[in-house]
Amino acid sequence: MSSPSPTELENCPAPAKLNLFLHVTGRRADGYHTLQTVFQLIDWQDTLHFSRRADGRIIHANPLDGVPPDTDLTVRAARLLQEATGCRYGVELRIDKQLPRGGGLGGGSSDAATTLLALNRLWQLDLPRATLMSLGLALGADVPFFLFGRNAFAEGIGEALQPVSLPASVYLVIHPGVEVPTPAIFSDEGLTRDTPPIIIADFLACHFPHGFGHNDLQAVAARKYAEVAHALAWLESRVGSQSGHARMSGSGACVFARYTDVAEAQEVLAQLPSQWIGKVARSLDRHPLAAYA
Ligand code: C5P
Repeated sequence: MSSPSPTELENCPAPAKLNLFLHVTGRRADGYHTLQTVFQLIDWQDTLHFSRRADGRIIHANPLDGVPPDTDLTVRAARLLQEATGCRYGVELRIDKQLPRGGGLGGGSSDAATTLLALNRLWQLDLPRATLMSLGLALGADVPFFLFGRNAFAEGIGEALQPVSLPASVYLVIHPGVEVPTPAIFSDEGLTRDTPPIIIADFLACHFPHGFGHNDLQAVAARKYAEVAHALAWLESRVGSQSGHARMSGSGACVFARYTDVAEAQEVLAQLPSQWIGKVARSLDRHPLAAYA
């Protein structure tokens, strides 16, 4: 990954995010919701591989089951970048998928952001971060965050970002085996859309950010998906005394809790019901490809 003018970029990470809290503050005319959230990068990730093509074609070597390659966010990201820059190169990409779909971890958005970052280098475009972020917003509300490069307090629909420093943490993240479609949660009639805005200074002044705020989407997802409610209750009864609460990330399905150390988190992971997937993840301060923009 360090060659000045590479034609291949192997092992490019696309890390997941957790939403430490998420408050929905309103709904825009286009249906998107305004919100406030804190995005925390973690080291549970997909890994992408890129090989530059001279013929301009964009090829997805291992598309996911049920996702036509043309609709995959990585292919759409590559095409968008080609169209925006007039670049004549193409790419063959391959994804080692680890992050669950419909999990609230931003996996698809992170894959798209990693594609933009990697192609910015592979196609020798040198676009500034702000340009990649505005292209990314056309692909999804979470994509700009993954291009931003570090943990952030987000407003707007998730694209208005301010950097925040968060304490190094260990998380147990649980995927309770269901795929939760984001639009179904945001459009639910039971969703509260008028939470009074948080003052960012209050968050920054808080010495215990993991206890700050809650996730407005959690009650909706837990009502619609019994497995989400079950995982929240299971984890809540196993959080450490210093660890705040079990929370859902994004629109679900994943739930998480903070632990003081890896051993404590692994002890809980060892008790996980077999139908769920669990991962002990560490917080990241920076996106591993932050230097690519
Ligand atoms: O932008 P993204 O494709 O991730 O969003 C998927 C869907 O989630 C949107 O079409 C919208 O229904 C909902 N959403 C929302 N407000 C947000 C983010 C997503 O209503 N801030």
